[in-house]
Amino acid sequence: MAKQLYIETVGCQMNMLDSELVVASLRKAGYEVVDAPAKADTILFNTCSVRQHAEDKIYSALGRLKHAKTKNPHKIIGVLGCMAQKDQKLIFQRAPYVDLIVGPGQLHQIPELLDKIAAGAGRQLEVSLDRKAGSRAEIEQSFESYDPLRDPAMRPTPFQAFVRIMIGCDKFCTYCIVPSVRGPEQSRPAAHIVAEARQLADEGCREITLLGQTVNSYKHTADGRTTRLSDLLAQLHEIEGLARLKFVTNYPKDMTDDLLEAVRDLPKVSPYLHVPAQSGSNRILQRMKRGYTVEQYREMLSRIREMVPDSSVTSDFIVGFCGETDEDFALSIDLVRASRFKNSFIFKYSERPGTKSVQLYPDDVPEEVKRRRNNELLAIQNVISEEDNLPLVGRQVQVLVEGPSKAAQRHDDDGPVVQLVGRTHCDRIVVFEGNRRQIGQLLDVTIFDANAFTLFGSVVTQHVGPEVYRL
Ligand code: 5AD
Ligand code: SF4
Repeated sequence: MAKQLYIETVGCQMNMLDSELVVASLRKAGYEVVDAPAKADTILFNTCSVRQHAEDKIYSALGRLKHAKTKNPHKIIGVLGCMAQKDQKLIFQRAPYVDLIVGPGQLHQIPELLDKIAAGAGRQLEVSLDRKAGSRAEIEQSFESYDPLRDPAMRPTPFQAFVRIMIGCDKFCTYCIVPSVRGPEQSRPAAHIVAEARQLADEGCREITLLGQTVNSYKHTADGRTTRLSDLLAQLHEIEGLARLKFVTNYPKDMTDDLLEAVRDLPKVSPYLHVPAQSGSNRILQRMKRGYTVEQYREMLSRIREMVPDSSVTSDFIVGFCGETDEDFALSIDLVRASRFKNSFIFKYSERPGTKSVQLYPDDVPEEVKRRRNNELLAIQNVISEEDNLPLVGRQVQVLVEGPSKAAQRHDDDGPVVQLVGRTHCDRIVVFEGNRRQIGQLLDVTIFDANAFTLFGSVVTQHVGPEVYRL
C-alpha cells in the first residue's frame, strides 16, 4: 500500500517550490499526498526562519503532534528548510519525537533518509555547513539544490510555475537570517533554466515566475560568456506557449537599465517589479546595511517610472528596526506616500539570533510601537492602493485565470459557472464570474469595481486592442 504523506509549507515562494520538489521525489518513491496530518504516516513541515512568529507556529504545530506520535510511534515527523538549518539539533531537544531534520541544501536526500528511519536507523539530521565553517567552495557545495524534478499537481496552478534561477544571498542585511540558512549566492546555468522552462511550457504552463532572493543579481558565466537576468529573459521569451514571465525579489542596487529595457521591450515579461525599500530613513538603511540611500532608491524608482511607465512596483518595509525613532518612521511614511507602490508588505522587526543586528544594536522599539507603526504604514499604503486601482474601473485588462475564487471554494461551488480569480500582467488580482473551462486561459476582462486589493470585472466578448494588456 502507498505510504501517506502530509506536508505543510510556510514562508516564501522559494519554500513553496522546495515543497513541490520534495513531493515530486516522494511520489516517485511511492508516496501519496493526503490533506490532514491524522491521515498520514509521514508528516513534514517545510519551515521559515525570517521572523520569530513563523518559527513559533511550527513549534506549536509540532507540540500538537506529540500525542499522535505516542499513539503511533511509527509515524515519521520531519522538519525541513530554513528552521532546520538554523536550529539543527535544537529541534530534537525541543521536540524529541521529531525523526528528521533536513536543511534547504539537502532536500534531495529526503526519500533515502525516510527509508533509513523506516528501517530502524534512528533519527536523521542533514544540514549544510555554517557560513564560516570552510572555504567558499566547500560551503557552496554543501548548499546543493535539485531543480529538474517537477510535480504538476503541486504547482500553484497547472498553468503557473516557479523556476529557481539562483540560490542563497551574499548581501547580509543586518536583520536577515537568509544568508546563513540559504547559503552563498549561486546562479544556475542559463541552459538548465531554459531547458526547465521549455519542459514546463510543453506541459501547458503559461506563466513562469523566476525565483531568487536577489533575483536581479543573477549572473552566470559559461564558456567565457556571461548571462545577466535581462539576457535570460530574452532567451525565455522565445519559448513558445509561455505567455508571461515574472521575477522576484529584486535588490534595489541591481536594478540596471538593461533589465528595465528587457521589461519594457519583451511583451511576455510582466511590467511588475517587487523591489523592497525596507525603510525611508538613511540612518536606518545604513544600520540595516542595505547598501543604498533613500535618494538612490528614489532615483531607481524614477528610472523605472520613466522607462516602464505602465509598470506596477511593490515593496517591503520593516518597522521598529533597532533605534527607529518617530522621525525615522516619518521618513518611511514619506517614501510610501511618494512612491505609490501597488502594495507593500509591512513587517515588524523580529530579532533573529545569529544576525549582525543582534550583536550591533538592542531591539529597543517596544512591541506596541512596532504594532502601531505597522498599522499606520499599512493604512497609508492601502489608501494609495485603492486610489491607484480606481482609475481601472471601466477599463479592460487581460487576466490569466488561476481558478475558482476563495469564496467559490468556501461554498464548495462545483457547478460550471463560478466566481473565478486571476491576475493581470501587472499582478493585480481580478475576480469575475466565468466558466471553469476558462481556467488557465488569458481572458479580456472589463473592470466595474475596485478596492485596495482586488479588481472586480466581467469577461469581455469583444476584443479591443493591445494597449490594454499591460495594465
Ligand atoms: N524582521 C522582520 N522582517 C524581516 N524581513 C527579513 N528579515 C526580517 C526580520 N528579521 C522582511 C524583509 C524582507 C521580507 C521577505 O521579510 O522586509 O524583504
Ligand atoms: Fe535578506 Fe537582504 Fe539577502 Fe534580502 S537581500 S535575503 S533582506 S540579506
